[in-house]
Amino acid sequence: MTSMQLNRKLLNRSGFYKGFLILVIFILLIVVSCTSSENRDDESPVYKDKNAPIESRVRDLIGRMTIEEKIYQLTQVAFGKNMNINNIGGEMDKIPPEMGSIIYVNQDPAVRNALQKKAIEDSRLGIPILFANDIIHGFKTIYPISLGQACSWNPEIVKQACAVAAKESRSSGIDWTFSPMVDVARDPRWGRVAEGYGEDPYANAVFSIASVQGYQGDDLGDENTIAACLKHYVGYGASEGGRDYVYTEISKQTLWDTYLPPFEAGVNAGAATIMSGFHDISGVPASANYYTLTEVLKEKWGFNGFVVSDWNSVKQLRSQGVAGSDREATLKAITAGVDMDMADGLYLENVAELIKDGSLPVARLDDAVSRVLRLKFQLALFDRPYVLEVPEEERYLLPEYLLVAEKLAEESTVLLKNEHKTLPISKKASLAIIGPMAKEQENLLGSWSAHGEAKDVISIYEAMQQEFPDSKIIYAKGCDFEGIDKTGFSEALNVARKAEIVVLCLGEKNSWSGENASRSTISLPEIQEDLLTELSRLNKPIVLLLTNGRPLELGRIEPHCQSIVEMWQPGVVGGNPVAGIISGRINPSGKLAMTFPFATGQIPIYYNMRQQGRPRSGKYQDITTEPLFEFTHGLSYTSFKYGELKADKDTITKTEKLVIDISVSNIGDRDGAEVVHWFVTDPVSTVSRPVKELRYFEKQMIRAGQANVFRFEIDPMRDLSYVDELGNRMLESGEYYISVNNKKVKISLID
Ligand code: BGC
Repeated sequence: MTSMQLNRKLLNRSGFYKGFLILVIFILLIVVSCTSSENRDDESPVYKDKNAPIESRVRDLIGRMTIEEKIYQLTQVAFGKNMNINNIGGEMDKIPPEMGSIIYVNQDPAVRNALQKKAIEDSRLGIPILFANDIIHGFKTIYPISLGQACSWNPEIVKQACAVAAKESRSSGIDWTFSPMVDVARDPRWGRVAEGYGEDPYANAVFSIASVQGYQGDDLGDENTIAACLKHYVGYGASEGGRDYVYTEISKQTLWDTYLPPFEAGVNAGAATIMSGFHDISGVPASANYYTLTEVLKEKWGFNGFVVSDWNSVKQLRSQGVAGSDREATLKAITAGVDMDMADGLYLENVAELIKDGSLPVARLDDAVSRVLRLKFQLALFDRPYVLEVPEEERYLLPEYLLVAEKLAEESTVLLKNEHKTLPISKKASLAIIGPMAKEQENLLGSWSAHGEAKDVISIYEAMQQEFPDSKIIYAKGCDFEGIDKTGFSEALNVARKAEIVVLCLGEKNSWSGENASRSTISLPEIQEDLLTELSRLNKPIVLLLTNGRPLELGRIEPHCQSIVEMWQPGVVGGNPVAGIISGRINPSGKLAMTFPFATGQIPIYYNMRQQGRPRSGKYQDITTEPLFEFTHGLSYTSFKYGELKADKDTITKTEKLVIDISVSNIGDRDGAEVVHWFVTDPVSTVSRPVKELRYFEKQMIRAGQANVFRFEIDPMRDLSYVDELGNRMLESGEYYISVNNKKVKISLID
């Protein structure tokens, strides 16, 4: 008697069991019919049917794959010229056709197509390869670094710039970018502050959403969109001492209220992938962290995309001291929730063995593979594996792309100081353009400039010549970016003597920020400071233009300048926006997304520190405790006058909404855009909260002589609550303050 017959005999004993049996058989029939329809025949498998639902295609394909084929899907290797000097990858002549993903640092669609053809035609199942690269602030049309973008406080223009990057990338064979970086960062010594959106969790969250929407559009299957990757999950920005790749000490409370929010926002916006960081989070490395990767990301937030490790971060679990062998590192990473292994090849080496000896359940392998395949289907790679091979001039640097880059660079530029209205400068003034940055092209691109080329960048000098056709412009380099050679100083002084105004172009080279590019001090090198000090002795107005990838320490040189303009690393449009600001063609509207300390010794210094026991004490003995330029600082050529904050109620329940508005008048004589930042303060709470927290911002153009109303509609659960150390959103009754500039209003929240 077969077990089925035995079961039947037992079940036949009662009518109840009969009914139950019929139900079971019915369910079995459905399952069998679904499975058979998914498997169909090998001539027209479900996974190749573009009309079948994605989940059915994924299931069907998984059902056909061998363990080895599955492991390849979880493996990513680099191909082509590796432009990341920190990752000595290499040319890969022989990429197996089963390979899951390639970091494609080439820009030729034909080469991608050839590789893809190999995958489609030479592998048993014809699974397309997923091509990725670091398109951080543009592919060819390089736009400002992310830190600059954040200073625009204009998520819509950031979204447009990411959409441009997506178009240039997809048409060159890239399906997936390792961007945006949404690591909240409060230590400007850390070189990677250039890659993120500054010190505030809410700002990072808003720009996280904007970038994801820009890259991914409404449909990943569209040929103009690419998959985004939120990185570096999570807390990488807390690197101790501002050094890269090191330990981070993050309490659960801070993890939840500071570092996780931009990731959660990006996940909710539909980000396709997430990258697990290199760093260690309070003793558990980010790439072996079951809590953050599985419990929070996949279970609590329901993320159904996939997690890619950072470069070699699986293997690095060994140097981080949590794995004694490659095998153990692999087991820890995949068990924690890392789905795809970037670069080190450890999954390829070890996963089969881990499955065989039972250490890794097949279910986890299948889960990881499903996540990767899902994205390949979403990107329509199975249905449209090749990209059109369009000539470069039709793909890159199109006029409409450059317009977006230019607008973003204009809005990212921050006028930090403008004593006696030195700026704008009359179109006829004679100008001395001095400094190592003046004729630079390469160093205006910033780090991670993908396929951006120096030859496409407009230098400050060139832009100034075009902007000031009627002015006498003379130039001297003065000195190099660093070193001790002052022989150029005398020429610089001579040139300055002959001009009415000195435009001094100083800053940091590209390589001083970005990955593995920390600095122990954030001041300009002594030689640049000395050049400025010497020039200031001539008593001519000095307009300082700064090009850099982090906030700088300007305490010593700021008093010698009449005007200071922070132009960050603006990308291909280079000097154009700043020249427009100097001439007055553009009215600056950027505001800082990261605090400029008075001195490096103040770090970490950020606006939203938690409330402290003795608010008036704890000062430095030797220097001010205040920053030089605070978060949201930025000037305009016009003046804005803020009215009073008006709340439509002073008391609300937890489910009611409240509207506060403020009228802002442009009392100057030219139009200007103003950003209003709305902060919340909760003076008494179960958890000590920051002195104030940004909860909303808005930028509006205000015509000269007119007033605009800015409005903040408060939803208590969204805007007044905090998140506790378990990730629960808590809303407590009591008093709250809402502030804008130096105005504030008190509201009461009742049960
Ligand atoms: C960086 C990542 C980057 C990856 C691939 C790593 O070194 O930390 O941000 O996406 O390399 O180039």
